[in-house]
Amino acid sequence: MFKIAVLISGGGSNLLSIINQIEEGNINAKIHCVISDRESAKGLLKAKEKGIDTFVISKKKYGTKTSEKILELLREKVDLIVLAGYLSILDGEILKEFKNKIINIHPSLIPSFSGNGMYGIKVHEAAIKKGVKFSGCTVHFVNEEVDGGAIINQALVPVYFEDTAKTLQERILIEEHKILPEVIKAFSLNKIKLENGKVKILL
Ligand code: GAR
Repeated sequence: MFKIAVLISGGGSNLLSIINQIEEGNINAKIHCVISDRESAKGLLKAKEKGIDTFVISKKKYGTKTSEKILELLREKVDLIVLAGYLSILDGEILKEFKNKIINIHPSLIPSFSGNGMYGIKVHEAAIKKGVKFSGCTVHFVNEEVDGGAIINQALVPVYFEDTAKTLQERILIEEHKILPEVIKAFSLNKIKLENGKVKILL
């Protein structure tokens, strides 16, 4: 069985979209565990309600050893690590051992509004400020460069003149909840091919 770990920091709506797709039988996978970098992450409760093992690995407690601790938990246990609203940066050995096996969802069309300091509502505030007519979301591989790994899939969302960061965030989340499970499914079926830094999804 294809096993995944889901890393979160907040509400966990993306986590829930993955759980739903698994429960509906659209993805043949098991969530081995959910890891949060903060105790207060509401998504932890959602995971617990579903009987999924949860762990809190906070920077406060583990400092520069945070990624190492996560690696210890997941080594040889999962096929894919999914960052679903995980706001810490992974570094060190985990990026090597899980090379091309860590994916992240980012709430903009990368490379716009991405990189260090660009996360959550800040991304949408920047998009609104810039006056872009389209934004969206991106699922990409995670490597040493923040939001710099190969792009796996994107969804486009129009930005309206009347939009606030909050309304834009809400509409983009709807698309996140589609493309992240779709990519996990494609990954579980070995349908994601990486060639020269570019991804092809086999149909
Ligand atoms: C999502 O919009 C996700 O794309 C974003 O955090 C939100 C988490 O929502 N991630 C980033 O900004 C990563 N750079 P959720 O907890 O409801 O899934």
